[in-house]
Amino acid sequence: MAAYKACVLFGVLVVCFFGACFADIPCAARKITGKSVVCVCNATYCDTITREPFVPNTYVVYYSSQSGLRFNKSRAQLKQANYSDTECIPTLILNPKVKYQRVEGFGGATTDAAGINWKNLSLPLQKYLIDSYFSDKGLQYNMIRVPIGGTDFSTHAYAYNELPVNDTKLSNFTLTYEDFHYKIPMIKAAMQASSTPIHVIATTWSPPLWMKTRPVYRGRSLLKPEYYQTYADYHYKFLEKYKEQGINVWGITTTNEPTTGLVGFIHSVNNLGWTAASMGRWIIMNLGPTIRNSTFKDVKIITGDDQRLTLPYWANVLVAEHPKVLDYVDGIAVHYYTDFLTPASILSEVSKSFPNKFIIATEACEGSIPILEKHVDVGSWVRAKKYAIDIIDDINHDVVGWIDWNLCLNVQGGPSYTANHVDSPILVFPEFNAFIKQPMFYAMGHFSKFVPRGSRRIQVTQKCGWKKSLWNTAFITPQNNVVVVLYNDGKATKVNLQLGSYQAVVEMEGNSMATVELPPNLSL
Ligand SMILES: *[C@@H]1O[C@H](CO)[C@@H](O)[C@H](O)[C@H]1NC(C)=O
Ligand SMILES: *[C@@H]1O[C@H](CO)[C@@H](O)[C@H](O)[C@H]1NC(C)=O
Ligand SMILES: *[C@@H]1O[C@H](CO)[C@@H](O)[C@H](O)[C@H]1NC(C)=O
Ligand SMILES: *[C@@H]1O[C@H](CO)[C@@H](O)[C@H](O)[C@H]1NC(C)=O
Ligand SMILES: *[C@@H]1O[C@H](CO)[C@@H](O)[C@H](O)[C@H]1NC(C)=O
Ligand SMILES: *[C@@H]1O[C@H](CO)[C@@H](O)[C@H](O)[C@H]1NC(C)=O
Ligand SMILES: *[C@@H]1O[C@H](CO)[C@@H](O)[C@H](O)[C@H]1NC(C)=O
Repeated sequence: MAAYKACVLFGVLVVCFFGACFADIPCAARKITGKSVVCVCNATYCDTITREPFVPNTYVVYYSSQSGLRFNKSRAQLKQANYSDTECIPTLILNPKVKYQRVEGFGGATTDAAGINWKNLSLPLQKYLIDSYFSDKGLQYNMIRVPIGGTDFSTHAYAYNELPVNDTKLSNFTLTYEDFHYKIPMIKAAMQASSTPIHVIATTWSPPLWMKTRPVYRGRSLLKPEYYQTYADYHYKFLEKYKEQGINVWGITTTNEPTTGLVGFIHSVNNLGWTAASMGRWIIMNLGPTIRNSTFKDVKIITGDDQRLTLPYWANVLVAEHPKVLDYVDGIAVHYYTDFLTPASILSEVSKSFPNKFIIATEACEGSIPILEKHVDVGSWVRAKKYAIDIIDDINHDVVGWIDWNLCLNVQGGPSYTANHVDSPILVFPEFNAFIKQPMFYAMGHFSKFVPRGSRRIQVTQKCGWKKSLWNTAFITPQNNVVVVLYNDGKATKVNLQLGSYQAVVEMEGNSMATVELPPNLSL
């Protein structure tokens, strides 16, 4: 007997289970020649995606492809496993008894630029954009990164308490127009839309210039030693101000990309340089005691927040210089931009050396390499693929979460006062009262929506001509169901997923992505 039935009503796929109906609004696809499709949202229409309820002995595949499908759902019966070494298709043996890291979450950043673009949309579109990312009918993001003060994705350079100078008491620390008009409203809208707590990570790019050895927002400069405690208090004050606004920050990082301010040749990003030795001293003498002795003692302290290739510096060298940082630091954060230079295995090496510290990916975007890349590449599937593969590779090497950069940008990839334009999963078109969801948006969703906080990565074993081009990772969720995420970077193929004596088969074109949800509590 069919426990569920599907029918098409007014062009909307309605799926009914035991009388309850879940309607998904499909992508209003616009084809971009030579790329893929983008999904257009306007003031009265925006695509949604709901997770299907579990039905015993069936599994659900959510499928997206370069050819234009977006979270295309299909349900099928689990079969008794019939795996044979001689005649078989690429197979993953899933083993939920061997569990690895616990997942913290997925999300994006409420930069000034994201807030400005969001606020430039009509109210119905603002709601659609937030719901698309954070609600149960969207990607169910559960993390946000928020800058403490300005970044390159602001309309001007700024920090808090720029005046008076040399003010060790931070007597004039007030939030700015950008906090009240863009960042706080956006975070609060996300908190309201989300059915789970949003974990907010806050990061400073540059403190006020009077704290720095050279009075510049960008280029080489360090923290003046006489302001080490002031810079720790600066973080405390931010936590306090955001709490007053109803936002409890979950974690702080110890400055964005500290090596850019150390080497000094990247002039497009606000920064503050640190050596591992000075960073360690600041953490153990100032930041650590300040936070741990305060009402914010449970706020996570996350160091690194820099490119993957700097990981040994922000882990091994930092700890070698100042072993006591381990008393204060909860985790280490990595950025995306040089991942092609450094294999992901370096992540596992760090997690093996520091098994009690987590590794989290806190920033990523495409189009950031000047001259070589288009900043914005509307409809690019290649960029979605890069996101998907990077996330899989990070997660398979112990990373606990993955946070994208600007939640939305305009079609130039800004605003950015330093003209450091880049791409974003959502681009806004206020002049057409619309925004578009790029392929990258769906790549994020194949993880964020189906892998809730508290999930654990599980062991998989590859059999039967499994190819490297079949990227994969698997989890067991707190609901006790197994979720598999696959990206096919090769030829069309069938994939066999085997869980105990059960078997699920997925058909994948080249350049496609699938999330497979198996029902909970299968007796293995
Ligand atoms: C909004 O999008 C829907 C679906 O593509 C379309 O039918 C409708 O005409 C659009 N509305 C406007 C005002 O463009
Ligand atoms: C899902 O994909 C199948 C196969 O391509 C197609 O027939 C079906 O119409 C798609 N469903 C939706 C809702 O797009
Ligand atoms: C198992 O697979 C083999 C080879 O594909 C097939 O011949 C056989 O009928 C299958 N057995 C069952 C019980 O499905
Ligand atoms: C406090 O900061 C504001 C800018 O946010 C500035 O206009 C004002 O002059 C500062 N007050 C003092 C006493 O420096
Ligand atoms: C701030 O301190 C610097 C030295 O660190 C000094 O040169 C400068 O005159 C001071 N400025 C004011 C207004 O006190
Ligand atoms: C709290 O502050 C005291 C006094 O400054 C210091 O000795 C202690 O180490 C701090 N506690 C923590 C957990 O850092
Ligand atoms: C807001 O959108 C309008 C077009 O409707 C555009 O001209 C303007 O530059 C945008 N504002 C910002 C701050 O991006």
